[in-house]
Amino acid sequence: MECQFHRGRRLRRTETLRAMFRETRLTASDLVQPYFVLEHENPEVEKPIGSMPGQYQLGLSALVETVRKAVDTGLQSVLLFGIPKEKDERGSQAYAEEGIVQQAVRELKETFPELVVVTDVCLCEYTSHGHCGLIRNGEVQNDPTLELIARTALSHARSGADIVAPSDMMDGRVAAIRDILDKDGYSHVPIISYAVKYASSFYGPFREAAESTPSFGDRRSYQMDVANAREGLREATADLDEGADALMVKPALPYLDILRDLRERFDCPLAAYQVSGEFSMIKAAAKEGWLDPIATALESLTAIKRAGADLIFSYFTTELLEKELIPLR
Ligand code: PBG
Repeated sequence: MECQFHRGRRLRRTETLRAMFRETRLTASDLVQPYFVLEHENPEVEKPIGSMPGQYQLGLSALVETVRKAVDTGLQSVLLFGIPKEKDERGSQAYAEEGIVQQAVRELKETFPELVVVTDVCLCEYTSHGHCGLIRNGEVQNDPTLELIARTALSHARSGADIVAPSDMMDGRVAAIRDILDKDGYSHVPIISYAVKYASSFYGPFREAAESTPSFGDRRSYQMDVANAREGLREATADLDEGADALMVKPALPYLDILRDLRERFDCPLAAYQVSGEFSMIKAAAKEGWLDPIATALESLTAIKRAGADLIFSYFTTELLEKELIPLR
């Protein structure tokens, strides 16, 4: 008898066949576009971020106009970071009622009621020292920081945020946020916890974008050691116990093993953050003509979804929508 071998190519012959047997599909509802909103006397200001080509620090009305164009092409959700005029030791602009993110949330929700507005809950863009919590004797204090993180999340919810996403990596912050939201009448506001967030070099370009480089030391006493996988499962379990509605893995592409581990272990929705370094590497290589940025972005995002992400935070979102490269739903 003739030797039978596997003919995998049968199902790859034409584009229609390939589409019929495709296992993973990206849609616009999988993607969230991050924006940096700048507190500035000129609300129309648009400052290009050198390390992230095509991304800007946007004044309030520039943000609304930029989002308007993106919504017209199908954008469904945004993540907001704020860059305040004044920073202090306690990051008080993070939880100020008239803080820049709070203003931006109100404007966006008023103009685009259907848009899902997610806020990044952290202190590092607001503290003079650039760390994600309060400092005493050169150390980031966990428990005293919790109250400020919770107040920040509450002020975002009061402004109309649809989802809050704490990224500070203090222990107990999900419980603290859930508690304050529930007590204040925001039990309907979900928490996406940056549960498994590594102390990664891939955040480099973001620190220029958000002006949040620590003035001393680094974030390794609160963000996770890149060498650890099992520890990520413990972080995930803790955040679910504290009331997180969805968990995030960050960065994304270098940590697909972690994403897959979580997918196998938990039934909750999972998010992944394709971070600034992942974005800027593709942009930089594309500038040299070494790879096709759009094809590479689509491949990365498909891989992240294939590994188990339900939701992906990506700086490529609006560009892909503009070019009509992904279906809306
Ligand atoms: C704030 C925060 C950071 C990022 C998201 N939220 C920076 C950091 O932790 O240093 C990184 C996002 C990116 O690199 O795109 N804590």
